Amino acid sequence: MASITLDNLTKVYPNDVTAVRGVSLDIQDGEFMILLGPSGCGKSTTLRMIAGLEVISSGDLFIGGRHMNNVDPAERDIAIVFQNYALYPHMTVAKNLAFGLKLRHVAPSEIENRITQVATLLGIEPLLARKPSQLSGGQRQRVALGRALVREPQAFLLDEPLSNLDATLRSSMRTELIKLHQSLGTTIVHVTHDQVEAMTMGERICIMKDGDIVQVGAPMEVYRNPANTFVASFLATPPMNLLPGRIENADQGGLAAIFGNSKLGLPTEYCASYASHSGKPVIIGLRPEDFHIAADSAPHTSPIELVTVTTEVLGPEVILVASLTPGGPEIHTRMPRDFRARPGQALTLHFDLSEIQIFDPVTTRVLTRPAHP
Ligand SMILES: Nc1ncnc2c1ncn2[C@@H]1O[C@H](COP(=O)(O)OP(=O)(O)O)[C@@H](O)[C@H]1O
Ligand SMILES: [Mg+2]
Repeated sequence: MASITLDNLTKVYPNDVTAVRGVSLDIQDGEFMILLGPSGCGKSTTLRMIAGLEVISSGDLFIGGRHMNNVDPAERDIAIVFQNYALYPHMTVAKNLAFGLKLRHVAPSEIENRITQVATLLGIEPLLARKPSQLSGGQRQRVALGRALVREPQAFLLDEPLSNLDATLRSSMRTELIKLHQSLGTTIVHVTHDQVEAMTMGERICIMKDGDIVQVGAPMEVYRNPANTFVASFLATPPMNLLPGRIENADQGGLAAIFGNSKLGLPTEYCASYASHSGKPVIIGLRPEDFHIAADSAPHTSPIELVTVTTEVLGPEVILVASLTPGGPEIHTRMPRDFRARPGQALTLHFDLSEIQIFDPVTTRVLTRPAHP
């Protein structure tokens, strides 16, 4: 097991594309770290620099405290699993698992032991004699993972390993990977563009955009305290509602957030943080789950008038799509499963003010206020 430290790592490809721009990140020994971001933001490039599959243009990489920039990939004692896990088609599962170990001259009895152990762990013992063409997508993915596991490396690098699986399988493989990490305790860096994977699997999430790290933190820390509108709109479906508005002085020295026909009196404990933005345009962030039917659902709610556009009945809950004023910006709210509303129906919901997030429209950064724990 090993820690992984990226110190100001940059990758400029030969065609002058800067894929990764001076990123610094400390991944702890045994940590499950997620690299999350949209396609093209530099996740795979970062992972490939850690693995030694891409030359580092500048900055320093340390694995287990050792400087690794110029160390051969085979010497880094790291296993990487890709989205397109190419198994050797002419070899059985057992031979696929053994192949890397044979190359490393591991003793045959030891190879056998490790294969048995990993096959049991992944539940693929019945498949050992099959060829890859006789496996389902999920089974192939398990074998690909097994091939990394038998090597017993210092760290696993996983590049969107679940992206090719259907939704049900993806969800069960998520759970399996979490369990695997719990039992092995090996450092894992898992790349994904899927915010559900990031929220559910990671001990910490590193959110990337355009080759930069935007925010790093535990899933709920990042979810509750997004650094900017990008993070706010990337996590969760439906994401945080982001509405153009402004902050104004209100009664008794307080402040109010104004958008559409709505005026939300801001909690007094936030006013010191927001005071310097009074009179200025802002972006107001309201999470869909912080709208309530009853006024007394939270200690500090404020009514918001809405007009129903449509409802999406999901089973466990209902997503209400509503506009702030007829024809105004649309917002999404999460309602209990028995909630119903007709298109055009006027509604009053109650927003939990302690959950409001306000962003600077120019920098897109959050206006810092007392954080959620
Ligand atoms: N071999 C390459 N040569 C040139 N540009 C590349 C190469 N690989 C990736 N890129 C570019 O680098 C950026 C980051 O790519 P990548 O790391 O694959 O992103 P992600 O994995 O987040 O989708 C993209 O703009 C991509 O087009
Ligand atoms: Mg990628």
